[in-house]
Formats: sequence, structure tokens, C-alpha cells
Amino acid sequence: MKKRPAQKKGKPMQQDRIEPATTESVPATNPTRTRGAAPAPGDGAAETPAPRRRGSSHVPQTAESLAKRQREISVSEFFAKNRHLLGFDNPKRALMTAVKEAVDNSLDACEEAGTLPEILVEIRMINEERFRMIVEDNGPGIVKAQVPKIFGKLLYGSKFHTMKQSRGQQGIGISAAGLYAQITTGQPVAITTRTGAKKPAYTCELHLDTTKNQAEIQSEKDLDTWHRDHGTRVEIEFEGKYEKGRRSVDEYIRETAIANPHVTITYINPLGEKTVYLRQVQSNPEPPKEIKPHPYGVELGTLMKMMRSTEEKKMQGFLCNDFSRVSGGVAHEILEKAGLTPNTWVQSIGTKEAEALYKAINATKIMAPPTNCISPIGEDRILAGLKATVRAKCYVATTRRPSVYRGNPFLLEAAIAWDCEGMDSEDPVTLFRYANRVPLLYQQSACAITQAAVDTSWKNYGLSQPRGSLPIGPAVVFIHFASVWVPFTSESKDAIANYPEVEKEIKLALQDVGRKIGTFIRQQEHAEREAKRRQIFEKYAAILANSLARITHKGQIRKAHEKSIASKASKINYWLQKIAKRESAAADKLVKGAMVEVHEDVHVVEGAAAAPEAAPAPAKPADGTKARKGSDK
Ligand SMILES: Nc1ncnc2c1ncn2[C@@H]1O[C@H](COP(=O)(O)OP(=O)(O)OP(=O)(O)O)[C@@H](O)[C@H]1O
Ligand SMILES: [Mg+2]
Repeated sequence: MKKRPAQKKGKPMQQDRIEPATTESVPATNPTRTRGAAPAPGDGAAETPAPRRRGSSHVPQTAESLAKRQREISVSEFFAKNRHLLGFDNPKRALMTAVKEAVDNSLDACEEAGTLPEILVEIRMINEERFRMIVEDNGPGIVKAQVPKIFGKLLYGSKFHTMKQSRGQQGIGISAAGLYAQITTGQPVAITTRTGAKKPAYTCELHLDTTKNQAEIQSEKDLDTWHRDHGTRVEIEFEGKYEKGRRSVDEYIRETAIANPHVTITYINPLGEKTVYLRQVQSNPEPPKEIKPHPYGVELGTLMKMMRSTEEKKMQGFLCNDFSRVSGGVAHEILEKAGLTPNTWVQSIGTKEAEALYKAINATKIMAPPTNCISPIGEDRILAGLKATVRAKCYVATTRRPSVYRGNPFLLEAAIAWDCEGMDSEDPVTLFRYANRVPLLYQQSACAITQAAVDTSWKNYGLSQPRGSLPIGPAVVFIHFASVWVPFTSESKDAIANYPEVEKEIKLALQDVGRKIGTFIRQQEHAEREAKRRQIFEKYAAILANSLARITHKGQIRKAHEKSIASKASKINYWLQKIAKRESAAADKLVKGAMVEVHEDVHVVEGAAAAPEAAPAPAKPADGTKARKGSDK
């Protein structure tokens, strides 16, 4: 085993714990100077004599003394202090976030390699407050040289600069989980990875040097055998808290399985309970294609940066080759409006020309960006995922056409599972929010999805909705936002920012599924009304039958007649019940028939459309009289 010397084994990362800042190493004041003494010549204090209040212990700073304390902050140090920004603010959430970061990476990697994902998630409880997370995938594996950068360097990844849909985008996720582990337990991140059957597997343990934002390998070796031909296994030990229910790891895995029916996930929770979410569809989603930035989405500063780093020499080439949807004609028009020519040298463009170019771009009609950079889940797959995981009576789904915000293509999908088992019809619906197939479990109220769901008029679709709230009903409302760049409100990727274009599309998607489910709800209500009427009718049918039998009896009723009257009443009752059943059966049929006719895409679970509490077949008359066919009398 090769060892890199930077860190002694057995002496884990205690020195990397972030300690409260002290001023010892950088004195705030000149220690040689005494109170009231004249400032030393040249130390600058004389130029900025700050008044000092009597009795105050505050020593005024000078530009020079401040300069001594000013230094670069490494990105790892920043996030170690601000771990809440990355979703590690409390132990329960930290457990979920760590699993999420690892699983998202595994799914991205498998899909990029065209492999049907098989993921193992195991959480071992070391004690009530400490857990060891293992996430293993059958993805393409990671090249040995990349392992320390991926797991030990924040802001390092393959997705930040690409314009195509993926779960990860920032290059922080997995290294942040490792950093959190290091801060809370001092334990290194353990990785095993293999890139092909003919290659050895590679395993190592590393920790992060937060000052340098780089990894230090504690131990590493090649393995001749590993149980997978290709894939990656990540093990991290950290402080956490395991709880079931809302916003738990269990919930994250379940919701992931719904939106990713092409995945098999084996999940072993800290209590040792194993759940296998089996693959529901046998192919990966269509892989998204990478696109170049659309001119409308590029701000002035970015445009200037692009011009500084482009390989193109002339402006025409720059516009046509570094952007999507800019043809020769469009480039010509833009350049003309900006007072430039196709042959203007890119490097000759100054701030003034760049500003003119930026204005010209926005004043020119340019085709919307291509949308094959987005890969929707698709209605069939959403329904397959929902049906396998949420037991309901009716399912509807919709996939909308792509749209654009700030030059970024995006697309909305929505679904509703109605009349779900175990849900209270007096409670608000359960909202499943997704961004690029990843469930969003935190910050529901800060999310554009929730806002749009609250702003939608659900009453139009037969749902009650208290003012300013989600609608009421035993339903799961599923919303998926897919884009080349998800506008998250923070690095913890919990909530989507409120762009008007985005909110409008979410609402339209919800209205689509609302309309579809509205038909079902109305028809179900109709069936329920019929059933209630039938119940009332049945309740009084026997009394009515008895009265009718007596009214129709000719002459005085003696004791001897009672038996024949009872028999007659029984017969009348039988027919009354039969009529009632026929009437409501027609309503039941109507419900089911109309569904199929009106909306082929409303998926009603067999028997679910029938009126609740269907009436039992009426009992045969007591005297065994055969009912006549074709007559209800
Ligand atoms: N299991 C894996 N298999 C293959 N490559 C991986 C795996 N996990 C991570 N990577 C690579 O490591 C990079 C960094 O991962 P990391 O989670 O830190 O960032 P990201 O996924 O790019 O973005 P985000 O911060 O939004 O999660 C990824 O971009 C990917 O290229
Ligand atoms: Mg990631």
C-alpha cells in the first residue's frame, strides 16, 4: 500500500476542525505600544486618529492593522463555517443530504454511461448520533487520478459548465458531505471504484485540507478483485439523526423511486430494515444533449468573459459557434445593430462595444434554444412510478412543452394520484416537488412550485381550498421541473426561485392535471350521491313494501291474512331493491364509461370508479317466488 505522508493515520482530522477565531496569531493592536503613547512613525495610525471613548476597551483599528488580518478564505473553510447553506444544518437533515448527494451522483453517472442504475444505500447505526453511510452504484467508475479531486475539493465537478440536464450542477455535493463527516467525526471518506472488468479496482481513504481546499490521501491500494465490474462505492461516517416520516431518508428514497422508475434501489435503513424498489421500466430516459448558451440568457459580464476566452478570432465566428441558435444571418443582423462587422476582431472589443453588442442581441429576434438538452420523465413513466409506490384510485399525468427562462430551456411535468390509501380527506394534499428528477424535501414554502400550487384555483376542479393554502384532499400532487440549470434559491438545492416564466408554466401544468382529475372527482361525487340515495331508499324500502302490500289487500285484514301480506311485501321489497340497484348501476357505468370516453389518459384503478359501498344483490322473496324477467313490477 502506498502512503502519502501528509497525515498520520490514527490521528484523524481534529486539527481541521474549525475553531473559533482567535486574535492571538494576528494581534489587533501593536503590542509594543502602550496606552496613550504616541504612534510609532510610519505605522499609519497618525494619519487616522480614531477617537477612543473613555472607559471603552475597544482599540480602534487602522488600515494597516486591518490589512494584517485580511487574507484569502478558502471555499472549504467558507462552507465548513456555513454548512447550513449546503443542507447540513441539523443532524436529521444532514443524514438525508449526505445520502441525497451520493445517490444523485450515482444516478447521474449511471445514466451518463448508459447503464441501468442499480443502487445500494445502506445506513449503519454506530450509535444514536453517529451513522456510517454506504452508497454503491454500477456506474462507469472514476479514474484514479480524479478521486481526490472529486471527493476532496469543493467546487470541482463535470456538470457546472455543461448546458444539459443533470441532477448535480454545482460541483460541491459529495465533497461537502465528506467535509461534514470530517467536521463531525474526524473520519475520512472511503472510496472504492472500478472503471472496467479488465482493470483493478482502486480503494482509498482521504480527508480534506480545508485551508488548501484539496484532498490528502491517507491510504490507498489497488484491488485485484471487487464484486462489481464497474461502479463506485462511497462510505462516510458522520453525526446524524435517523427518523422516519416526512423529510426522512426513507422518504427521499421512496420519492426518488417514483420519479426514476428505471432504477432499482436497495435501501437498508439504520434499523436493518431492507426495502427494494424494483425497476418499473426497462430503459433509461432519453439522454439529454449538451447545448451551447443561448444569447438571451447571457448577461453583459458573461458575454465579455466569453469574448476573452473564445478561440474564435472574428465576431461572426464567435456569435455563430459559441452560442446556440445564431445563424449567419442572425449574427449579421446583431453585428449591424451593434455597429460592428462580421470581420471585427473579437479581441478588439472594448466595454462600449460589448455593451452595444449586448443591447443588439436583446433587440434581435432569435429562435428559442433547442430543447433536446432536457430529458423529461414522460407521462407513462411518471404513472408507472406513482402506481408502484402510491396506492390510489385514479392517476393523471401531463408533460408540457419546453419553455425558456433567462435563455435556459426548462420543462414542467405534473401528476396527481387521487384518493390515496391511508390519506385523510380533510388534510391538504401532499406535494411531491422534483428538480431534475431529484425530490426536494425541505423549504417547501420558499419554493416556486408551492407558490404556484397555492395560487392555482383548485375549486375549478372540484377540490376545496382554504385561502392561501394548498387544496384539500387525499391526493399526491407531483411536480417535476427539468432544466439545464435549475434556479435553486441556495446551494442546498431545496427550493426553486420564483421566475415569472417558471411559475406560469408550473401553474399551467397543474391546471392540466387539475382538469383531468376534476372530471374524475365530479363523476365520483355523482356516484357517491347515487349511493347515498340508494342507501336511503333501501332503508325505507321494507316499510314501503309492507305498506303497499297492506294497501293493495282487498277487504279487512285478519290474522289469517298476515302471512300472505308478508309474502306480498317481501316480493314488493325485492323488486324495489332491484330497481334501486339498476338505477345506481347505471350511474356506476356512466362514471366508468364517461371516463374512458372523455379522457383516455385518466387512469382509473379497476373497480375504483364504482360507487362506494355498492348495494348487495337484493335477497330473493321469502317464499322463493321466481322473479320475472323483463318486468320490474
Ligand atoms: N458515483 C460516481 N460515479 C462517477 N462519477 C462521479 C460519482 N460521484 C461523483 N462523480 C463525479 O464527481 C463530480 C463531482 O460530484 P459532486 O457531487 O461534488 O458535484 P456535482 O454532482 O457535479 O454537482 P452538485 O454539487 O450539484 O452535486 C461529478 O460532477 C461527477 O463527474
Ligand atoms: Mg453531485
